[in-house]
Amino acid sequence: MTNHTNIIPDGFLWGSAVTSFQTEGAWNEDGKGLSIVDTRPVKEGQSDWKTAVDFYHRYKEDVALFKELGMNAYRTSISWSRIFPDGEGEVNEQGLQFYDDLFDEFLANGIQPVITLYHFDMPLALAEKYNGFASRKVVDLFERYARTVFKRFGHKVKYWLTFNEQNLILTNPHHWGCSLDGAENEEALRYQVAHNAFVAHAKAVKALHELVPDGKMAGMVTYQVTYPNTSKPEDAIANMKAKELLVDFYLDVFARGEYPVYVAKDLERKGIMPVLEDGDAELLKNNTVDYISISYYQSQTVSAEKVDKQEIISGLVQNPHLEANEWGWAIDPIGLRVCLKDMYARYQLPIFITENGIGVREELNENNTVEDDYRIDYLRDHIKQMKLAMEEGVEVIGYLTWGATDLISSGGQFEKRYGFIFVNRGETDLRDLNRYKKKSFDWYKQVISTNGEIID
Ligand code: BG6
Repeated sequence: MTNHTNIIPDGFLWGSAVTSFQTEGAWNEDGKGLSIVDTRPVKEGQSDWKTAVDFYHRYKEDVALFKELGMNAYRTSISWSRIFPDGEGEVNEQGLQFYDDLFDEFLANGIQPVITLYHFDMPLALAEKYNGFASRKVVDLFERYARTVFKRFGHKVKYWLTFNEQNLILTNPHHWGCSLDGAENEEALRYQVAHNAFVAHAKAVKALHELVPDGKMAGMVTYQVTYPNTSKPEDAIANMKAKELLVDFYLDVFARGEYPVYVAKDLERKGIMPVLEDGDAELLKNNTVDYISISYYQSQTVSAEKVDKQEIISGLVQNPHLEANEWGWAIDPIGLRVCLKDMYARYQLPIFITENGIGVREELNENNTVEDDYRIDYLRDHIKQMKLAMEEGVEVIGYLTWGATDLISSGGQFEKRYGFIFVNRGETDLRDLNRYKKKSFDWYKQVISTNGEIID
């Protein structure tokens, strides 16, 4: 008998997160159209996304493992091009049926699906014909797609996210189907795409609230925490400015429904304020989010000396006090607490951590498992910091690791493994795709079964 109460409330969401294109495979089956991922160039020796881990055909086996792990939530995305193969024609019933069956399988096993509408995978036809979210036509087609899936799945899915990591849009507009080739003013086009995506986001928030009254919608960012590189005031202000464009801009629009003054003034000064159509300002203002969703992997520092005025976000420097993974991502559990506290102080909205994890090259050992103590250490240290933030008053509603099974990285590497479940395939050799539990599987199972009380 203890008199201590767990800081993590009952009903907390524990599980993992993935995307359609990084797990499903079946890239051209059952009426699916091509997406911009299907034609993305594959680097020498790396994987394409055509088979991934064949979740499309093996999801029952995987969901059984997730149930054994004890998850009560699983985040994936709907592939827009399964639902509307060319983005604008007829709806593909087979695509809808796949997700109906998948969500039923989750629910029958006590797992609630958490769904991202868009994760870097626009129907190719919309990128080719309209230059993606550079066009308001695509905003309207996105709304049509969102309404279609809300009507079909609204009674099965409570937690939704509009765009994955929307704060990457200024630096990676190609993930929103937009090429900058031939742009008169590249920076202006980047901001126009960002604006159009904000409008699409707000339309989806509005549609969900109209169609699914108890549905909850988030805006999502990847929270790359930054610190001033030194105690020089110049670094402090450079850090503040980097943070504004890395994360605050997006969260301010999601939560407060208007452009923050630090962005608006800058755009006016440069003469590149995006074209706002009638009603845009009201739409953003009236359709703020129910909760905030973040991915968190790493932190960096900002050095005033490295700031390059030509770049949108610059001055980022590795933190000499932190170790990094093989891909140079600095491991910083305290950074998670820093961003949770910062977001909660600014917005007082519930926060859902929808990605956290570490990619590592791994092989099965002679016992057909992987002794991935480094993964246990990484996740444990982050969960500890999350709990400390919660003790300090931050409202966190769930924690999802990146990957339950291994999956293809966003850049196209299979050997950057993230899961608790090893998938037997190589970079280009598909092998048998069989699943094997890593050591971290049992560790996470205990974390979940004790609702985060026992993490050591
Ligand atoms: C996030 C993305 O940026 O990080 C995922 O939402 C991605 O799609 C994940 O896979 C991990 O990054 P990476 O590059 O290791 O796959």
